[in-house]
Amino acid sequence: MSNAATTETKPTPPPVETIKVKVDGREVEVPKTTIDPITGKPVPTTMIQACNAVRVDVPHYCYHPKLPIAGNCRMCLVEFGTPALGPDRKPVLNPDGTPKIAKSPRPAIACATPISPGMEIYTNTPAVKQMREGVLESLLINHPLDCPICDQAGECKLQEYSVDYGQREPLCRSEGSQAETG
Ligand code: SF4
Ligand code: FES
Repeated sequence: MSNAATTETKPTPPPVETIKVKVDGREVEVPKTTIDPITGKPVPTTMIQACNAVRVDVPHYCYHPKLPIAGNCRMCLVEFGTPALGPDRKPVLNPDGTPKIAKSPRPAIACATPISPGMEIYTNTPAVKQMREGVLESLLINHPLDCPICDQAGECKLQEYSVDYGQREPLCRSEGSQAETG
């Protein structure tokens, strides 16, 4: 009777397929898919996850890495481009041999848009700044600005983002701080 030890070796996991993209000019290689926290299944990696990988903060309200993607606040809008393809479906190159990037005419919500090979994501362009200001403005229009007496003050992303990405106006002014006119 054989007494051989049953030294089962675990199967080697398949190599993780990765994609190279650029975030504000910095190249980053990220997994093509990530595990969905709800279903446990692989889903395409998104722009916001690629940005996180290079510690580029994309402001967001409705995104949370452990929750399903809602994609409705629009705070995470970014611009992006993808490698241009010629009529032969081959990449078009710049004179220096680098791939020519075709910038998308429309922005994308970074929390829900999958990355693709060679994609370039732009998080700090004038258009992105303007879009963030617009989103904040629309949120603030109907918001009661009671920061001095609000329990959330100091831990509020509306306050925080208004300072970091808004139009540089203080959210709440005391009466004495009103700008003088005339
Ligand atoms: S702290 Fe935030 S939630 Fe509270 S009033 Fe100010 S902006 Fe609104
Ligand atoms: S974080 Fe709300 S739409 Fe992306």
